[in-house]
Amino acid sequence: MTSAFRVLGSSARNASMRSLRTASIARHTRPYASAAAATKTSNGGMTETAFFPDEAAGPTVATAIPGPKSQAAIEQLNKVFDTRSLNMMADYRKSYGNYIADPDGNVLLDVYAQIASIPVGYNNPTLLLAATSPEMASHIVNRPALGNFPSNDWAEILTTGILSVAPKGLNQVFTGTTGSDANELAYKAAFMWKRRQQRGADVEFTQEEMNSAMNNALPGSPELSILSFKTAFHGRLFGSLSTTRSKPIHKLDIPAFDWPQAPFPMLKYPLEEHASENAAEEQRCLDETERLIKEWHAPPAAIIVEPIQSEGGDNHASPAFFQGLRDLTKKHDILMIVDEVQTGVGATGKFWAHEHWNLDAPPDIVTFSKKAQAAGYYYGNEELRPNKPYRQFNTWMGDPARAILFRAIVQEIERLNLVENTAAMGDYLFTNLEGLAQKYPGEIKNLRGKGQGTFIAWDSPRRDEVLKKGKTVGINIGGCGDSAVRLRPMLIFQQHHADILLEALEKIFKS
Ligand SMILES: Cc1ncc(COP(=O)(O)O)c(C=O)c1O
Repeated sequence: MTSAFRVLGSSARNASMRSLRTASIARHTRPYASAAAATKTSNGGMTETAFFPDEAAGPTVATAIPGPKSQAAIEQLNKVFDTRSLNMMADYRKSYGNYIADPDGNVLLDVYAQIASIPVGYNNPTLLLAATSPEMASHIVNRPALGNFPSNDWAEILTTGILSVAPKGLNQVFTGTTGSDANELAYKAAFMWKRRQQRGADVEFTQEEMNSAMNNALPGSPELSILSFKTAFHGRLFGSLSTTRSKPIHKLDIPAFDWPQAPFPMLKYPLEEHASENAAEEQRCLDETERLIKEWHAPPAAIIVEPIQSEGGDNHASPAFFQGLRDLTKKHDILMIVDEVQTGVGATGKFWAHEHWNLDAPPDIVTFSKKAQAAGYYYGNEELRPNKPYRQFNTWMGDPARAILFRAIVQEIERLNLVENTAAMGDYLFTNLEGLAQKYPGEIKNLRGKGQGTFIAWDSPRRDEVLKKGKTVGINIGGCGDSAVRLRPMLIFQQHHADILLEALEKIFKS
């Protein structure tokens, strides 16, 4: 075995080897998920190759949820951990593919997927293989302070993983730990870039700048801002929270920067019937964005925008709107940060949602997390590297173990053509949801996400009840904003899952 185990004593080494072997035996007791797997699932005359041949054939609802075992576990947990946001108690050892299991034997089709964060299925065999490799073990137990002590294979891990799927035009990455962290790092990069531009590329900091920075005062702490949009969500850490505008409960009692918020288009549906009204609404938002860029007392160094405002209610805008934003950022010499934390990694039927926009010039920065399991921001312009080391820095600066996992996720996505699968499944789902919307117009309003893979949502007058009833008919489904039901299935969601979901929704609508 490899160097990872070289320094262990022989009994520890044998135990480690045993546990790796056990994991690998467990792995091979399941048929390997494969695009070439011959298992066909039949579906009203259609057949498809199951990505997870031995996945549950459908949901099992064995008890009320939470059942007695879950209730006991929740009670125990509540003694040491706040459980007031708990949705369901899960058993991840029993969860597999698209299905999440609980301690009471309930198995639900999961179209919420850990708030849009599971890309290729629970206990995916390919990921288990990566997770139990000697390479992974070494990176877990020897976690480096990446800025100071990167391992000699870090460049290779990045180029074969995170950077192999970098958005077009962006070839560098700064890794972080969460979506909020990725955004805050991007804001800092934007501010340092803007000040360097104002000061001149090779101009040293003045003593006054250095002294005033220590007092959080001008000129060292400059009056600059990040412009975000109403109903946006960019995270809950201090800096990112100032750009989050989705719900007061996230922001109450927390001091915030006085930064500008532009209106985000509120489109009317169906889009085809409101084309001119929607175009006017987008123009109004672009005009107001430009006014804020020009007039806000703390000039924006960047704007940040989600391709689809997710936590804020699944609010969409057209490619023309985002092209307009790109033009404004170019015109006023500020950066365009695209927050792909929720939309990225395949869910919209493109690897990155902003690929739908056909921009003339790529965004300056694209942030990612969630389905990537790793986090960070991509960029291309060398000037976005701060002029000195340690200006953009922290202890971990990401995690090679998570980067290795993302590489395995990318390989799985490519092996099974999961972006194409998601585009096709999205079309199938959307068409059928249009049918349900016609049949139950009081239940599905403002259906949105056409042509955006499985990133689909609608408004429901009894949203919270629908989500709750979901569990009684075997589906785990989430909401966003005030009244939206949002679909966030994994990339391995197939037609037979879609049929189960549609049937379950109809049961709810009839109830
Ligand atoms: C678009 C977007 N940005 C940022 C975040 C924050 O990510 P995290 O919760 O990992 O900090 C989220 C989380 O939901 C998000 O949806």
